Amino acid sequence: MEIFLDTANVDEIREAVEWGVVSGVTTNPTLVAKEGRNFHQVLKEICNLVRGPVSAEVLSLEAEGMLQEARELARLDPNIVIKIPVIPGGMKAVRALAREGIRANVTLVFSAPQALLAARAGAAFVSPFIGRMDDIGQEGTAVLEDIIKIFRNYQYPTKVIAASIRHPRHVLEAARLGAAIATVPFAVLAQMFKHPLTDLGIARFQADWEKAKGI
Ligand code: G3P
Repeated sequence: MEIFLDTANVDEIREAVEWGVVSGVTTNPTLVAKEGRNFHQVLKEICNLVRGPVSAEVLSLEAEGMLQEARELARLDPNIVIKIPVIPGGMKAVRALAREGIRANVTLVFSAPQALLAARAGAAFVSPFIGRMDDIGQEGTAVLEDIIKIFRNYQYPTKVIAASIRHPRHVLEAARLGAAIATVPFAVLAQMFKHPLTDLGIARFQADWEKAKGI
């Protein structure tokens, strides 16, 4: 399973890329707004740091506006993927973009039927929001499982991105279910390193070596 970073913070992306574990980035309007910087400038910097898909979201709610925004964003870098919400106008835009060779990541997906529509329209990626489903008592991973199964049944090439990841357990579940990608916040990625026995083991090896090294 590939790991993408779900952030618009270039320092976090630079650090995680140096760890060698990240192969793409997803952003959304909230994450970009948090940075307080020019959207296009941030995207260009992210594309210079990561050799992989970088999702940038459109804000228009009808196809024509989405297409205009998408074409402008796609001109910034060949790795830009256009994030589009799963609404009728959005699917119209996804289809048109696919014909132009511009990849789309269909977002705000909370059900398998929505994901099916995205795949039918020609989305390159689909992003079920696992955490937000869990937040309202819906089982996020059950929806993820359905989507993966349906795409396998019909060999849709659309890649499933497990999104809205809240903790390492979500990453584990996404990998067990066979998601192509999990997009994780930096804090969750850092948490994935953590295990008390690793810390204890390091402390013990250091202490033992201190005792032995003079011998
Ligand atoms: O970027 C899409 C998704 O991962 C957002 O996650 O944490 O805002 O539910 P969250």
